[in-house]
Formats: sequence, structure tokens, C-alpha cells
Amino acid sequence: MATSTSLDKRLILVDKAIAAHGNRKDALLEILHTAQNVYGFLDKRILLHISEKLKLPPSQVYGVATFYNYFKLKKPGSHSITFCLGTACYVKGAEEILSALEKEFNVKRGGTSSDGKLSLFVTRCVGACAMAPNVIVDDEMIGKATKEVVLDKVRKLLEGEKVEA
Ligand code: FES
Repeated sequence: MATSTSLDKRLILVDKAIAAHGNRKDALLEILHTAQNVYGFLDKRILLHISEKLKLPPSQVYGVATFYNYFKLKKPGSHSITFCLGTACYVKGAEEILSALEKEFNVKRGGTSSDGKLSLFVTRCVGACAMAPNVIVDDEMIGKATKEVVLDKVRKLLEGEKVEA
């Protein structure tokens, strides 16, 4: 499992959270929260990864994820943007970038644009405060993010979709 997901940088954040909880099985709920915050959803691949790391049966991990409405089991939009709003990132201007993105693309934090192309999430410290503010665009972590860089990246992503369509 680790090989198919090893290129996904967001998984590193999930693994850090698992390690921070000492790989404890009883931290499952906290780990699922972290994974949901980072990805915006929990699909089979992520749940299996967590089950392997915590040495819990997949059925148990899946059972907990489906029990709570809070957890989403499908990727919401074609692209997901996650803002870290932990203290360091907030102080360095993450909120300002987030607000600009909400305005330009008419999407609210925690929501998905009406065309289903963009979902916006916020999370707390992703463990890279030295690079604050941090924004995760799909699988790419953008450190020392600026409004210009993030908006431009998202515009290009959406333009790419139009070209492909
Ligand atoms: S507060 Fe954003 S990485 Fe720590």
C-alpha cells in the first residue's frame, strides 16, 4: 500500500499525525479527522492506509468513517485546495489568500463550487510552520504561499480543465 501512495505528500501529514499519537489504535478518530482535514475526504485508499498503519481491520476503520456524518467518503470537487489556518500560517497571511480565493472563484471554505470543480478546505497546523503560510493544491504543498501564486495556480488548473474538456 505504501508504494502506491508514497508520492502523495498529504499522506506524509497523515503519517505524522499517526506517529504523534504513537500509532495507537484508540487514536483512530483523531487520525481520521486529520486525514479528512488534509484531503477533504476519506476514500478507500486512505482508509486502507490508516488501517495498515494502526494495525486495525479495514472493516473497523471503514465502520468508524461511515458512522459519522462529518466524514466524506468521496472526493468532493475535481480539485481540492486546503489552507492551513494554524497560528503561524494565519499570522503570515493565509486568511487573506483564502478570502481572495473564495471571492474570485465563488466558493466558500468547507464547500464546493457550483460547477463541482473546486473544493475548499481549512485545517490546523500541518507541521511545516517554517514554510508558513502553507496551502495544499491537490497533491502539491505550496510553502511561503502568496495570493498571486495560489490564485494563478488555481486559475491554471481550471483553465487546464477547459482545454481538456
Ligand atoms: S501553522 Fe500552518 S504549518 Fe504550522
